Amino acid sequence: MLGMVNHALQEMVTERHGATAWDVIRADAGVDDRIFVVMKQYPDEVTYKLAGATAKALGVSVPDALRAFGQFWIVYAERQPWGKVMHSMGKSVRELLPALNALHARIALAFPGVDMPQFRAEPNADGSLQVHYFSSRPGLGPFVHGALEGIGAMYGEVVEVSQLEDRAAGAPHDVFLVKFPEVGS
Ligand code: HEM
Repeated sequence: MLGMVNHALQEMVTERHGATAWDVIRADAGVDDRIFVVMKQYPDEVTYKLAGATAKALGVSVPDALRAFGQFWIVYAERQPWGKVMHSMGKSVRELLPALNALHARIALAFPGVDMPQFRAEPNADGSLQVHYFSSRPGLGPFVHGALEGIGAMYGEVVEVSQLEDRAAGAPHDVFLVKFPEVGS
């Protein structure tokens, strides 16, 4: 994955737990890189090892660490110049979720060779949304769960996210339900 992803994890840990905590995680993961080049491709294994070591250091499960990281991913993305692109593609949760493929396709133009995820957002009759997530990579469902929560937080909207189908439990792909309790969906 692009160094951007590892750099975001590093920022999350460093901002919340300090640089020493990150050094411990990096050593435990057996990753030598002190800095990640945002535009460079790193083996996916680096990201998985860092996520595993982060969970261990924080005393949480890997899915819980990935969910927190997914929430932070949106904070991180918003701070970058790409944040403006994200806002231009959606002014609310309901607008952005159907635009996730277009957003990633646009970003992929800047980074040839990236392996972007695919999403499908379908409205339910009650106004809630079902978000289908497809990826060549396993185990990142909790990251999406957190990212969907992060999108709600970014727009200041109350959203309730739950997982309907879990690829880690044998489903063909992950499916999430995004509810908007304030408007009764
Ligand atoms: C400006 C905002 C965003 C930027 C710049 C961005 C960029 C990226 C990049 C560079 C990757 C790594 C691809 C690779 O290296 O192969 C990635 C992966 C991913 N992104 Fe985004 N993204 C953004 C917003 C979002 C949002 C809003 C979501 C919400 C669900 C999301 C979900 C994911 C997921 C789940 C992956 C993991 C890759 C996989 O499943 O295979 N991203 N994104």
